This record gives sequence, C-alpha cells and structure tokens, in this order.
Amino acid sequence: MSRREVELLEHRSHLRTQLEEVAIGLTQTDQKTLPCKWFYDELGSQLFDRICTLDAYYPTRTEHRILEDSAEAMARMCGPECAIIEYGAGSVVKVRFLLDALEEPVAVVPIDISGSHVAAAAAELAADYPAIEVLPVCADYTRHVPLPPMRREARRKVAFFPGSTIGNFHRDAAIEFLSRIAQTVGEHGALIIGVDRKKDAAILELAYNDPEGITAEFNRNLLRHLNRELGTDFDLDRFTHRAVYSEARGRIEMHLESESDQTVMVGETPVELTSGETIRTECSYKYSSSEFRVLAREAGFRCRAEWTDEDRLFGVYLLEVA
Ligand code: TRP
Repeated sequence: MSRREVELLEHRSHLRTQLEEVAIGLTQTDQKTLPCKWFYDELGSQLFDRICTLDAYYPTRTEHRILEDSAEAMARMCGPECAIIEYGAGSVVKVRFLLDALEEPVAVVPIDISGSHVAAAAAELAADYPAIEVLPVCADYTRHVPLPPMRREARRKVAFFPGSTIGNFHRDAAIEFLSRIAQTVGEHGALIIGVDRKKDAAILELAYNDPEGITAEFNRNLLRHLNRELGTDFDLDRFTHRAVYSEARGRIEMHLESESDQTVMVGETPVELTSGETIRTECSYKYSSSEFRVLAREAGFRCRAEWTDEDRLFGVYLLEVA
C-alpha cells in the first residue's frame, strides 16, 4: 500500500470513530448529547471571541479586571524565577498581567490543542518578552502533558488556567484534571485559576443567552461543523438555542431544542428527535468559594488566596500543591 492509501485509510477510520462518538451521544435514552469539542471551527472560534466581548457575558471582563488589579499580589506570592504553564493559549492576553508583574520569570509554556493558535500566541509573547523563554506545546491538555526542557531551571512552576474553563468539566473530570496539573507543577508548584461563581439564575441565563443571539449562533454552529466534517444532515433552522441553569446541579446547561419531529442521519444511523426534545451540548459548572476549595483539596491543592470583584461574580484562586 502506498503512503497516500495508508493515510486515506487512517482518515476514514478516524472519521468513523468520530461519527460513532456522535451517534452514541445522540442515541442516549435519557438525554441526547453532543461532544463540545465540535464548537471550535474557524467560525466557532470567531463567535466565541465575540461572546467574550458581550455586555451579557460578564466572566471575561470581570476576570480581566481581577487579574489586572491583583497581579502584583499574585506575583509576590509566587516569588522570583517562576515558569508559567498556561493551559489553553486562547487567553494569551491574560498571561501578560502575570508576566508583567512577576519578578524575573524564566519561561512561559503555552499549551493548546490548536497548533496554529499556540504558534501565533508564542510568537507574540516571544516578541514582547525577549528575556523569557517561550516554549509552545501543541497538545490536548486534558491528558498528561510532559513539560519541555527549560534553559534555566525555574524556582517554581506555576500553572495558569483562566476563563472558568474548569467549569466545563464534570466534577470527577475536574478533580482528575487538577490532580494532573498538581503532578505537572510538582512540589512547591502552584496554580492560578479563574472560576465562575454561583449567582442569581437570571444573570447566568442572560450570560449564556445574550440578546444579540451570538451564543445561539455559536451553539448552532456546532451542527454546521458536524455537517461539514462528518456529513451529518442537521437542519440548523429547526433547532433553537436554550440555556438553563439547574440549581440542583449547580450548572448552566446549553441545549439545542428540536422545533419539530425530525430524523437526522448520522452516518448510517437515523436519529429521531421529537418536537421539543433537546440535545445537550455543554455544561458550565458554577462554584461557591467553599465548594471550589473542597474540589481543589481533593485534587491535592490548598488554597493560598482568593480574589473576587465587588459584585462577587467571579473568583481567581492561587492554589499551592499540598
Ligand atoms: N468556559 C466558558 C463558560 O463556560 C465557555 C462558554 C461561554 C460557552 N459561553 C458558552 C460554551 C456557550 C458553550 C456555549 O463560560
């Protein structure tokens, strides 16, 4: 077999696995689901960037302000000659608050699943911080990511995980993920993490269902992405975006509601949807300060400090490996 034929076969088997995963989520009897990784194609990334600038979506600007106001205090607690490991390079703006405040940081390691994002982020950082070694890593950070060798040894490894992305993990997965970070930063290591707090359901539901309809478009775009990549035949006009806060579960749930009875083809599998039935696409868990501290402790961290805004909408925590 030629190399090209091998590649084609591998590509087909990859598509089949992806289709199977989609079909499994859509044939669950209690609640249909779709994997959230399909949010982020080119358009999805653009829509998400717009979400972050919306009036209704308070987390981005609130976290920004907290980092801006508290970077000096965070830097003092971290001490000199740190290496910063950033999980998700989409937020390379936020790491600058830290880099600017830290005393002689030695390296920054942006990790992202998208090779082009992480390369662009690294190039910008390297240009603006010539004294800091920039070591981009293209990897799925939900698995173990070994750190690249650094020219200068850091006195302390500090992981940075802003954006309340931890809220997009279910509880067990969140603990597993944070434990892995604890292992990566090792003894004396630390983690600076942004976490959205519990609050009035109306504020939450507005943040995930903005009047401009950008979040709705972002949610529906997942179907467009699937149609293009996997050949499913979702009719985007027959799905409505819904964002519901479940007090009991402490999470916002994103759904796509079927506007009529319909059948969608997922590969060879026909998926029936009844009118009003929903597909859950994403959850965003919200944590009170005490709930998050418990979670962090279970993952092997203790909370050294916590910062919040005056309306107590968002929290940034400095955790240390226990
Ligand atoms: N981490 C973000 C959050 O949970 C991601 C997000 C914002 C999101 N708006 C969304 C995910 C809408 C899916 C749909 O706040």
